[in-house]
Amino acid sequence: MSETSVTAVVLAAGKGTRMHSAKPKVLQTILNEPMLYYVYAALEPLFSKNILTVIGHGADQVEAAFPEKAGSFVLQAEQLGTGHALQVAWDAVKKSGATHCTVINGDTPLVKTEAMERLTAVAGSNDLAFMTITPKDAGAFGRVVRDEDRRITAIVEAKDYDINKHGPVTGEVNAGIYLLKVETIEALLDELKNENASGEYYITDLVGLAVARGLKVEGVQCGDDLSLMGINSPRELVHAENALRSMIVEDLLDKGVLVHNPQTVIIGPRVTVEPGVEIFGHCEIYGKSVVKAGARMGSYNYITDSTFEAGCDIKQFCHIEGAEVGPNSWVGPYARLRPGAVLKDGARVGNFVEMKKAVLGEGSKASHLTYLGDTEVGKGANIGAGTITCNYDGKNKFKTTIGDGAFIGSNTALVAPVTVGREALVGAGSTITRDVPDEGAGIARGKQRNIERKLKK
Ligand code: UD1
Ligand code: CA
Repeated sequence: MSETSVTAVVLAAGKGTRMHSAKPKVLQTILNEPMLYYVYAALEPLFSKNILTVIGHGADQVEAAFPEKAGSFVLQAEQLGTGHALQVAWDAVKKSGATHCTVINGDTPLVKTEAMERLTAVAGSNDLAFMTITPKDAGAFGRVVRDEDRRITAIVEAKDYDINKHGPVTGEVNAGIYLLKVETIEALLDELKNENASGEYYITDLVGLAVARGLKVEGVQCGDDLSLMGINSPRELVHAENALRSMIVEDLLDKGVLVHNPQTVIIGPRVTVEPGVEIFGHCEIYGKSVVKAGARMGSYNYITDSTFEAGCDIKQFCHIEGAEVGPNSWVGPYARLRPGAVLKDGARVGNFVEMKKAVLGEGSKASHLTYLGDTEVGKGANIGAGTITCNYDGKNKFKTTIGDGAFIGSNTALVAPVTVGREALVGAGSTITRDVPDEGAGIARGKQRNIERKLKK
């Protein structure tokens, strides 16, 4: 058998009219990751960098969403159909030098690497192979037509299907994943026509053309494999999303994560949750978050791209994004941690506290109603209720530094750039504009005056 090598082509130029959204369909998210993320995740183990993506509608947005894929995009300026998309990519396919090319619709996010493997396995013995499924409802899928001997004769799009011409439907449909032998399929590409109900060049017409030429064509049957269903509408999207959500949560339960009320817990595909974590629903954890063994995640939290160390306790109703939550620390209820928020060992952030690019040192506390932005707080400091770091002058951001063991009285405005020294104290209600020395005390507020009142009796 001769050596085969395969380049993958992802078709992602379509608008996704049925989503009724300005966003390109392949950027619609499932568990907070764009659909294309999943397609790449399934392809990369097999094709690593040999993956081309045809983009068109919202091309800039798609490129921007996957900067690591720069150089592998092919522009289909006008979306004239899936066959046209392949024609546009063909030069790049040829340049790759691969003997075969596998083509996959970018709206098939649940596809698994094993399915792609199954298809590439038949490369040696076919000119064209594609995956077929037999879903409960054949919907708008392209119909697979076979002759009396069960040999493939064509794929006919639902809109173009004519029972009199094509015979009764069998329920077997096209999943939109193909494997083509570059050498023999090339000549057929120019033969595609757009004389059909949609006025588009269909990749699926290659099947009929290949059969007519006596080339070897195979339909790899995958039964009612849900992971091969294309996503065209909001309903199909949430259906896929729910299926994947439940798979991820069930898997975590199996591995030893205690997930209470699991139907209400949503965890993204890039999140790591170690066995020994306790999570209460409702809860959403997305992005590249890591939750270490012994962390506790209360209910009603929204989390993305954050890490949680052992023994930390996230109370209810927090919004946490790009934060590092240290061991044995406390967050919430009702806290907001924005990118660059760091809690060291045993630090505490309480209700209505917001942190952005701010480090709260070991054992330090900001328990109530506070904003810490562009701030570094040392160890064992206490930030009183209603403390605001005034980090922005309308143009630039400035830093606030608070030393170990400092005590900031309630309702203090710290006008950055400013430093409050080690073991220093700031009187409640102060507006601090100058540094407070180590072990010193700063107080900056109007002096209280008690005046006599004349009460009418
Ligand atoms: C397609 C197949 C259908 C199959 C189904 C499986 C065709 C003609 N039909 O139908 O047989 O059952 O997928 O899910 O291929 N795209 C481009 N450029 C274009 C048009 C589309 O890149 O000019 C991309 C889209 O972004 C999408 C993919 O191709 O990711 C499929 O297009 P779509 O319009 O969703 O095709 P279906 O009607 O679902
Ligand atoms: Ca589709």
